[in-house]
Amino acid sequence: MSAAFPSSPPARAGGSLLREGAAALLVAGLVLASGAATAGGTDAAVARGAAAYGRCLACHAVAYDRVGPRHCGIGGRRAGGVAGFAYSDAMKASGLVWTRETLGRFLADPLATVPGTKMTYDGVKDPQVRADLVAYLLSLEPCGRPSGH
Ligand code: HEC
Repeated sequence: MSAAFPSSPPARAGGSLLREGAAALLVAGLVLASGAATAGGTDAAVARGAAAYGRCLACHAVAYDRVGPRHCGIGGRRAGGVAGFAYSDAMKASGLVWTRETLGRFLADPLATVPGTKMTYDGVKDPQVRADLVAYLLSLEPCGRPSGH
């Protein structure tokens, strides 16, 4: 018996390329970055921040306590650190130290950052205005004439 084999070569499935077409969209809209100003804040940022600070004057002053504590010397100070000001327990226990990063976070959403804070203020939603305010706060001189000793 002889069998006749077809002479056609086996069809190969090679040559079809799977193209990966999935493109990842990276949405970075919620990144809290205060990248506009250089370290310490540019003069322009500080000047804009000084103007924006008007919205804080309802409760704050740079050199003395009002509804809120004085802001002189705030850079590097721990939260709740003005002697004699009646902070909330939440602020005193927050463990925060005021830097560009923590000020930015607090000003973005005070109640979320320090739940229970007495600072009943919605926060500064515009990242540019916030960065300017932080630059201004960090530019403030230490408080003069400390009361006490
Ligand atoms: C409605 C009044 C009010 C307004 C408006 C307000 N604050 Fe305050 N702020 C407070 C009070 C009260 C505290 C003390 C909070 C606590 O003890 O929980 C405080 C605390 C702070 C602290 C922490 C200070 C520290 O010594 O630890 C910072 C920083 C601050 N405010 C920045 C600002 C800035 C900047 C603005 C304007 C964008 C502003 N606040 C607007 C009332 C206010």
